[in-house]
Amino acid sequence: MLRTHTSFELKKELIGSEVIICGWVRRIREVGGINFIDLRDRYGRVQVVIEDKTLIENLDIALEYVIRVKGLVRRRPEKDINPNHPTGEIEVLAKEIEVLNTSKPLPFLPEDNIQTSEETRLKYRFIDLRRPIMQRNIIIRHKTALIVRNFLSENGFIEIETPFLTKSTPEGARDFIVPSRLNPRKFYALPQSPQLYKQTLMISGFDKYFQIVRCFRDEDLRSDRQPEFTQIDIEMSFVDVEDVLDITERLIQKIFYEILGIKLEIPFLRLSYRDAIVNYGSDKPDLRSEIRLTDLTEIIEGFKIFDEIKSKNGKIIALSIPLDLSRKEIEDFKKIVSEFVFFKKFNNQISGQIAKYVKNYQNLEDGTYIVVAGYNLKPYKMLGSLRNEVIKKYKLFKKEWSILWVLDFPLFEWNEEEKKIEPSHHIFTSIYSEDLRKFEELEVRIKNGESYLDLIESIRGKQYDLVINGNEIGSGSIRVHKRDLQERFMKIIGLSDEEINKKFGFFLNILEYGAPPHGGIALGFDRIVALLTNNESIREVIPFPKTTSGQALFEEAPSEIDISLLNEHKETFKWINEILT
Ligand code: AMO
Repeated sequence: MLRTHTSFELKKELIGSEVIICGWVRRIREVGGINFIDLRDRYGRVQVVIEDKTLIENLDIALEYVIRVKGLVRRRPEKDINPNHPTGEIEVLAKEIEVLNTSKPLPFLPEDNIQTSEETRLKYRFIDLRRPIMQRNIIIRHKTALIVRNFLSENGFIEIETPFLTKSTPEGARDFIVPSRLNPRKFYALPQSPQLYKQTLMISGFDKYFQIVRCFRDEDLRSDRQPEFTQIDIEMSFVDVEDVLDITERLIQKIFYEILGIKLEIPFLRLSYRDAIVNYGSDKPDLRSEIRLTDLTEIIEGFKIFDEIKSKNGKIIALSIPLDLSRKEIEDFKKIVSEFVFFKKFNNQISGQIAKYVKNYQNLEDGTYIVVAGYNLKPYKMLGSLRNEVIKKYKLFKKEWSILWVLDFPLFEWNEEEKKIEPSHHIFTSIYSEDLRKFEELEVRIKNGESYLDLIESIRGKQYDLVINGNEIGSGSIRVHKRDLQERFMKIIGLSDEEINKKFGFFLNILEYGAPPHGGIALGFDRIVALLTNNESIREVIPFPKTTSGQALFEEAPSEIDISLLNEHKETFKWINEILT
């Protein structure tokens, strides 16, 4: 090794010893003719004192140069002791200094509190990652992965890798595709998740599988979405919903304890999808706040548009915010809910836009009421994102963590834009046996051309979402393990026999070779680490993330590629050109 100690190892017990340390020059200063260098390595930093000027006479040393220092560990003078710093009691008196490498002036210094734009940080990610806070994020990511591996292995799970060059797997996003050189006109898809592989592994008898695995989705990006992200992927045989929830709860409990020292109580709160929507307007409610939606259908009268909706069995729903908000603050909500009206109740007085229509308000809590009207669950859903935003913006938190399961999702949803039925999780999700009759009725109604929209929401899938502080952290389901039912689900979402065969034929076939009952879950690993490190964006915990427009700024991807490589796919490109024009 080029060094004898890291900065972290320089404890006061070493006073009087000679050490060799290596690192980056974080700061240089001169006080009363003596030079001081603050030396940084991964483990922390240490003060190097240069009393003998000749040591650096012929040396060019500047910020972020990489140096090696041989010196004597000594106690700092009493007045210079910094009790808040791990190496604050000692310093290294330099005897030899060697410059291992120079550095160009940096666009920003690798310090924690910087005002640098994210774009510059991503362009110079190698410097950004030198910042202690980024190193901490990445180290916590590593520790979390280790806890996951150990915990699941101790519980009988086997980590098994699955292919990246694969056939399309449906998770509701677009696939990234890779043309095959050896098979012109054919493409691999990068996996949106290892869903079909993990189910296949159950059919192969592995019983308990896990993988910390990269997934690829060509979707619009946000602070909690990356085109490639990491999942903790889990699958188990001979289980039902509660078994998957239990192992996941124990895993999350372990992670929180080991990383944050927090003892979470299990089982976590469980909320049905319907209750989540009716009370909080969201299938990922943030329960750090107790604010609920209020049904004002009986209380608001005489407001024409609302009366009309009421007469057709619609509902008037409000988000009551326990604050006297200004008109401007209320207007700002339009960015989240495009159409609403409002009123306020304070000191038993009603004011605001629809004040005169609010009757019997004595029992309403004080606050600003944001009101919408509509049918079925729609008015509730309209207010859900606003609720999650409002409690964050105004810090209406009663506690630090909100961890819960949302269960009993409808198995299918109606896509109004495309006028078709879609799986609400994915097509491999199983159904509660009590609801099978309703599914059969749905099949009959579709066959007979009768209306069926009212039926869809009442058919429950064996699906579960783990929600932490209003973020969807994980999602999974018990799977269909029989071919007949799986095929019927595929038909109900409008796939023809031909499409079913082309897309899923291989999988339907293997369901006929002794597929055991099975189920699993995938947890968003990046989202978990972001929560543990108190970051809003998962980009802070991914070493080399993409921008929201999908670009890697530092290594510059996507980029043009060599013409010779394109040439290898000549036939495929020609064919694409033909079929698309
Ligand atoms: P799902 O698509 O819900 O389920 O994904 C599981 C979890 O992965 C995280 N996640 C993402 N994180 C970052 N960037 C993204 N683009 C992104 N997309 C999803 C979320 C989400 O809850 N195969 C199923 C799981 C199963 O049924 O077992 C699946 O992938 O935290």
